[in-house]
Amino acid sequence: MSHPLLRAAGSPPLVIAHRGASADAPENTMPAFELGWRSARWLETDVQPTADGVPVLLHDDDLDRTTDLTGPVRLAPYEQVRAADAGSWLDPRFSGTPVPTLQALLGALPGDGRVLLEIKGPHTDRQLAAVLEVVEASDADDRVLLQSFERDELARLHRMRPDRPLGLLTVDWDEDPVATCAAYGAIAYNPDFRLWHGRQAELERLHAHGVSSTPWTVDEPADWRWLSDMGIDGIITNRPAALARWLS
Ligand code: G3P
Ligand code: CA
Repeated sequence: MSHPLLRAAGSPPLVIAHRGASADAPENTMPAFELGWRSARWLETDVQPTADGVPVLLHDDDLDRTTDLTGPVRLAPYEQVRAADAGSWLDPRFSGTPVPTLQALLGALPGDGRVLLEIKGPHTDRQLAAVLEVVEASDADDRVLLQSFERDELARLHRMRPDRPLGLLTVDWDEDPVATCAAYGAIAYNPDFRLWHGRQAELERLHAHGVSSTPWTVDEPADWRWLSDMGIDGIITNRPAALARWLS
């Protein structure tokens, strides 16, 4: 994969729809992804395994907040998860919206669509292999960038697929982000956006080493402004339509 997230000179930052267009449709569902594609080529989403190892798209460890089921998704067999209603919690008009599988999303991805796929939470080698299997069997293999906060998972992914570029999510600034990324085979260093305050030189150093940054989760124009001005590569937002309008 050539680096698809690095911002070209004179171009605006990329718009990345966080959990789809999650301000306007139930997060991490097909309606949110379809709405996201209207204004963004990139989606961010979270993948986790069901009890029987099916990679599904869900942010929380538990099903409680965003579905009509309860309990950890890792303890629920796919037959149960597939019957969940992941839309009514937001609005009755989304009633009956299912929790999508990773396979369903990649199968529906437009030809120019790309996914920043977060490996959410702990994964065994077998669970990581299941994600790789779905991604690699899809037509979108080279349009999916796997990223994670879980450094052990990233290290194991890097060992499993040494040539596959990865992204590192972080809540704490690393002493040497370039060296840290190199250790994991990461081409993207993606912190909480507030960590970018006062770190212009660090961004230039990452860029000089071919590493992009698309921080999360940025919903306010005042923050879009300073991040864009400092040269950030892309912005992960719950409001992709508003960001696309603001950029234009
Ligand atoms: O892609 C980064 C961002 O999604 C990380 O935070 O909690 O929304 O998954 P969270
Ligand atoms: Ca995420």
